[in-house]
Amino acid sequence: MQRRKIGILTGGGDCAGLNPAVKWAVKTALDARLAAERSTQFEVLGIRNGWEGLMYLDPAMPEDPQFVMPLTEERVRTWDRYGGTNLGSSRANPYNPNHDLSGVVLQNIESLGIDSLIVIGGEDTLGVASRLSRAGVGIVGIPKTIDKDLPGTDYTLGFETALNVIVECVDRLRTTAGSHRRVFVVETMGRHAGWLALEGGESSGAYIILIPEYDFSMERVNDLILEGNRSGARYEIVIVAEGAKPAGCAEFVRNSRVDSFGHHTLGGVGDFVASAIEDGTGLETRSMVLSHLQRGGVPCAYDRRMGRYFGIAAADLVMENDFGRMVAYRHGEITAIPIDHALGEPHLVDITTQYDTARYNGRRTILGHRR
Ligand code: F6P
Repeated sequence: MQRRKIGILTGGGDCAGLNPAVKWAVKTALDARLAAERSTQFEVLGIRNGWEGLMYLDPAMPEDPQFVMPLTEERVRTWDRYGGTNLGSSRANPYNPNHDLSGVVLQNIESLGIDSLIVIGGEDTLGVASRLSRAGVGIVGIPKTIDKDLPGTDYTLGFETALNVIVECVDRLRTTAGSHRRVFVVETMGRHAGWLALEGGESSGAYIILIPEYDFSMERVNDLILEGNRSGARYEIVIVAEGAKPAGCAEFVRNSRVDSFGHHTLGGVGDFVASAIEDGTGLETRSMVLSHLQRGGVPCAYDRRMGRYFGIAAADLVMENDFGRMVAYRHGEITAIPIDHALGEPHLVDITTQYDTARYNGRRTILGHRR
């Protein structure tokens, strides 16, 4: 029987759905019946804390539990019920131009005896995976990000759970907003993509949804709020994506720091919109930043299922030695695409067909694609 070793890691911002993906990749790889059919016995090694595990592992101590964790069927049995990632994650970048540790990563992959690596991540983590793939590592990717902005796949793990958080929070805010006749501005994550705000706003019935793909006018927002108020609304819910901005303004960033991939932490537009509504309409307004609540909690049914399918599909690719690929969901089917296809232009909301630029909300025609 041939013996092979798979490494698996989760990188970048955590989200719900990572643990189910790890569980099902492991179970598929270790399945005794499949092993007999393939005459190949797989072993799976979890790499801790994203790329950090491979950047800081001492090759002289390849079993160091601080950096790696052998994964057995017994160990991952219950993982699909848990949010976050039991492997840990980080935004560490082996190709950080200020401190390039990609050589160490390659060396550690070899010292661990790993012949293929399943990498669960978004644009940054998969970008590293793609470079390692070009350096000869057998890479298979699994897409995850609550931002849902990776091209080449209609779904990225974590998105639906995050939407459920938005809906639950807005439902809670509605009662207090109604009691006090207030406007509530809710800031969602999503970086430069408006999916969380748009689909979270559509799912929760928000009155106004502001997204990064369409710069808004504060005057128009206030007119809409006053229009709603005149027609008898006791309160309003405004959802604003962290990357949204008024026309002519720069995006709102929390501070001047950037992470090892060069990203700023966005945030602050919710407070800006709330005070501009209060000043412009005279209506009492509060703002709330959902922040990392959107990444927390147990995976919803959809993320458990998609994690399962993506995990199984990733193990399939490893078994077929079909490397340099990312599993994907397209047109209702689980499939695989070249990993580089997920690293092109981000997948953003199409404002001509998916957004109503007059009402700042979801589209009001679906079949006609007209507003
Ligand atoms: O990419 C996922 C995401 O949650 C973004 O929506 C958000 O801007 C960012 O990560 C926050 O990153 P951090 O967890 O490093 O604060």
